[in-house]
Amino acid sequence: MSKHSIVVLISGFGSNLQALIDASKLPTANFEISLVVSNKKSAYGLERAAQNGIPTFAQSLKTFKDEGKTRVDFDVALAKEILARSQPKLIVLAGWMHILSPEFLSFFPGKVINLHPALPGQFDGAHAIERAFEAFKKGEIKNTGIMVHRVIPEVDRGEVILKQEIPILDSDTLEALEERIHSHEHQLIVAGTIEALKAL
Ligand code: GRF
Repeated sequence: MSKHSIVVLISGFGSNLQALIDASKLPTANFEISLVVSNKKSAYGLERAAQNGIPTFAQSLKTFKDEGKTRVDFDVALAKEILARSQPKLIVLAGWMHILSPEFLSFFPGKVINLHPALPGQFDGAHAIERAFEAFKKGEIKNTGIMVHRVIPEVDRGEVILKQEIPILDSDTLEALEERIHSHEHQLIVAGTIEALKAL
């Protein structure tokens, strides 16, 4: 099976990147990771990529701002650097904590997907797991979930590719809920990537 080139964007620990790396080695995978990009030079995910011989680069927004440049300058430079180093069929945001502008998305129309630890329209943006846990404790929700969706300028609002409900238990601590969510995310990010590539 010919494998499609994907680029993975991360900001931190990279456990979802690791799930993609492990899956890409399986004969059933329709993708290979050609590049890993981070907006944090200290991201452990870059180490995971290096350990697997995957090229990487890091670009920090702070450096751009210190040079008097804008977020859009950062995004356009990021897109050009990705295209200078790879020809991705798909860009996968796996724990990428920077809102991408329409200027960035215009370089990769319909080719960017994101993993988000909440159900569509429930807890958009940052700290989604904590906010779901707080809402559960107030009796506002019975469960939460995870999703893989296409990226549009509106945060966490693009077309849903895959989603999964995750139960919250009365006995749960926040840590227990996070662990349950992360373990399911590792499967959903792989399935969502395969699905998104099939649809292209
Ligand atoms: C994941 O929970 C993802 O949904 C969220 O950030 C976390 C990243 O985890 N946006 P990791 O860096 O892949 O371990």
